[in-house]
Amino acid sequence: IRREALEALEQTGAAQELDALRIKYLGKKGELTAVLKQMGGLSAEERPVIGQLANDVRAALEQALETQARKLEGAALEARLKLEAVDVTIPGKAVPQGHQHPMNVALDEIKDIFVGMGFTVLDGPEVELAVYNFDKLNAEEGHPSRDWSDTFYFDADSRVMLRSQTSPMQVRAMETMPLPIRIIAPGRVYRKDEVDATHSPMFHQVEGMVIDKGVTMADLKGTLNTVVKQLYGEQTVTRFRPHHFPFTEPSCEMDVQCHKCGGVGCPTCKGEGWIELLGAGMVHPKVLKMAGIDPEVYSGWAFGIGLERTAMRRFKIDDLRLIFENDVRFLEQF
Ligand code: PHE
Repeated sequence: IRREALEALEQTGAAQELDALRIKYLGKKGELTAVLKQMGGLSAEERPVIGQLANDVRAALEQALETQARKLEGAALEARLKLEAVDVTIPGKAVPQGHQHPMNVALDEIKDIFVGMGFTVLDGPEVELAVYNFDKLNAEEGHPSRDWSDTFYFDADSRVMLRSQTSPMQVRAMETMPLPIRIIAPGRVYRKDEVDATHSPMFHQVEGMVIDKGVTMADLKGTLNTVVKQLYGEQTVTRFRPHHFPFTEPSCEMDVQCHKCGGVGCPTCKGEGWIELLGAGMVHPKVLKMAGIDPEVYSGWAFGIGLERTAMRRFKIDDLRLIFENDVRFLEQF
């Protein structure tokens, strides 16, 4: 029994096999136990001899079981350590990095240019009083831009609204800031427009305004030309067209020459060769007066630039909807 059991023990490769052997030899119905059970049938002389022998065998088996169990445990630990080892030489996984939205890139560039010229950046309410969005900007009751079909009002008597332009920030600046004033005010504006390649009910403008003594239209043109060349490159060509806004007099619009122009049928400028970029003008004397500034002493100019258009021209994007859809395949290109 001893030889056979010890040999079998040597061969075991798993803890379960060891248990099986323990039961086979030392269990209640085990082979050694069977020998011990027969002790009763032995003579008085034989009993101690056989008893001694059986106990020796039992002790040897128990010892061997213990040793083998430890050996198996050691091997199992070894195997696990090997399996769980960290290979510090494996190269790391690259974590994809996000970046700024093209709109923010364009806005930051515009802010940088104006801050460099001594302008302050203002922030203002998107939920605005019609008084600021219209009345104080010389667009009185009955002005077409106040129509319910164009403007998002909150109340039946058209007093509170989503601002339709950033121009109310002109008035807010004039009412609160000491003169002279040089500000830009970027932000969201809202109009009841259907979505297409160039329209969205929410878009962004950057308002700009200067109020000082002796400010002229020449300053406006010079400043805007400088800004556009810094933004789009030295070779950029602009033109100023006369226009009308209630809060500026005279008023104009500034176009930049189309960068993609294939002439007739060009998808970017509809074959016109020019892209309208902003509205501007000399701040209307009435607007100055309503804000408590003496138009005999001070003059000023203002402009409102469409940020989406600026970004589209800056990054050569053809469809406004791409800017708002946030398709990663689109955003990754900037
Ligand atoms: N607020 C005008 C618009 O939304 C733009 C503008 C701003 C025009 C400032 C003149 C002066 O079209």
